[in-house]
Amino acid sequence: MKFLITAGPTREALDPARYITNRSSGRMGYALAGAAKHDGHEVILISGPTALDVPAGVDFIHVESAQEMYEAVRDMVKYADVAILCAAVADYRPVAYSEQKIKKDGERLIIELERTPDILGSMRDVFGFTGTLIGFAAETQNVEDYARGKLERKKCDFIVANDVSRSDIGFDSRENEVALVFPDHTEYLEKDTKEHIAMHIIEHATIIRR
Ligand code: C5P
Repeated sequence: MKFLITAGPTREALDPARYITNRSSGRMGYALAGAAKHDGHEVILISGPTALDVPAGVDFIHVESAQEMYEAVRDMVKYADVAILCAAVADYRPVAYSEQKIKKDGERLIIELERTPDILGSMRDVFGFTGTLIGFAAETQNVEDYARGKLERKKCDFIVANDVSRSDIGFDSRENEVALVFPDHTEYLEKDTKEHIAMHIIEHATIIRR
């Protein structure tokens, strides 16, 4: 099977020196890419900036902004049987980019932001993707409820949900504790390394037949 995986944060530039971003090490997405490759699948990894090494044998596309990630996914999705969108895409970007570094001449600076394209939300209806679709949900409350709403709105096969209000898991941590939210049930996985959780997710992804 061929996997398309997004990972890492995106950077939305304000000027040549500054950007808006999300907290994400990219570890979960890179672990997914490594696990899929290890299981003998082909992998396209589309990633924002991270400090990680690209797993061996994986086709890698580096992107910076949400717009670049959107375009890379749009162009590559036709090759994929399974898409796992794990990236922490910035939801908003500056409306205007300043070619020159913005001067600090006022006590306050107001920056106008606009929504970035919703990549996961475009998969079915805009890109026409008919393969297995897996999204991620990072929530701080009502984790399962929000994930189930996302599952339906974005037409996913399952959502990997995690509670980012906990400091011992998620974000920069090597471990995570997630729930796999399916249309008709939820599977709670025990706290484990991101590598083990990735193996479990890949296993589930390969047994869904659409
Ligand atoms: O709605 P929310 O941003 O919490 O959804 C998270 C899921 O949507 C993740 O799978 C993330 O990769 C994906 N996403 C996306 N494009 C965006 C925002 C989020 O693909 N612009």
